Amino acid sequence: MPPPCIRPFRAGEELTLREVFYASVHGLACRNYSAEQLAAWAPVEYDREKWSARIRQNQPFVAEEHGQILGFADVQPDGYIDQLFVAPQAAGQGVGSALLQAIEARAREQGIARLHSQVSLTAQSLFLRHGFEIEAEQTVIVTDVELRNARMFKRLR
Ligand SMILES: CC(C)(COP(=O)(O)OP(=O)(O)OC[C@H]1O[C@@H](n2cnc3c(N)ncnc32)[C@H](O)[C@@H]1OP(=O)(O)O)[C@@H](O)C(=O)NCCC(=O)NCCS
Repeated sequence: MPPPCIRPFRAGEELTLREVFYASVHGLACRNYSAEQLAAWAPVEYDREKWSARIRQNQPFVAEEHGQILGFADVQPDGYIDQLFVAPQAAGQGVGSALLQAIEARAREQGIARLHSQVSLTAQSLFLRHGFEIEAEQTVIVTDVELRNARMFKRLR
């Protein structure tokens, strides 16, 4: 597949991104997490206002092909990557890589010295391939359920 179009999020796409998030967690992260963990991470029922506000705050990049949203990811002014999710039907075709490249390019433009994130077991190999290092493996509590992930970082200068 040629690299997908990476563009800024557009207002009105918030709930479509929630669908991508839900499908991504249940369709891809299921390799590494139990059904109980997936349900805590991406529940069926959620607060639409809270989700939409988070997306509008994050202003993610969106990966799109033929009018279909394949994934999204953001980088915050302090270099924190809050979300990176790819739709299951688009996995393993370089969409996650293209989103991480866009993040790094923006961060460099903005003079951000360090990227960092809390990276799921599913995404760690992708981050490692992009030059991130593991700072610490950790257990986080999401809606009363324990999930393993890792704090990872990449120095840009
Ligand atoms: C982690 C995630 C974002 C990766 O997205 P992706 O689009 O599949 O990523 P890529 O295609 O760039 O790379 C994935 C794999 O496909 C391979 N790949 C990359 N480009 C490819 C291509 N053009 N053709 C075939 N395979 C390819 C890579 O070797 C890579 O292998 P690796 O995972 O062992 O490093 C995705 O699996 C996901 O959304 N997971 C669930 C949610 C999650 O965990 N999000 C992260 C929260 S921190």
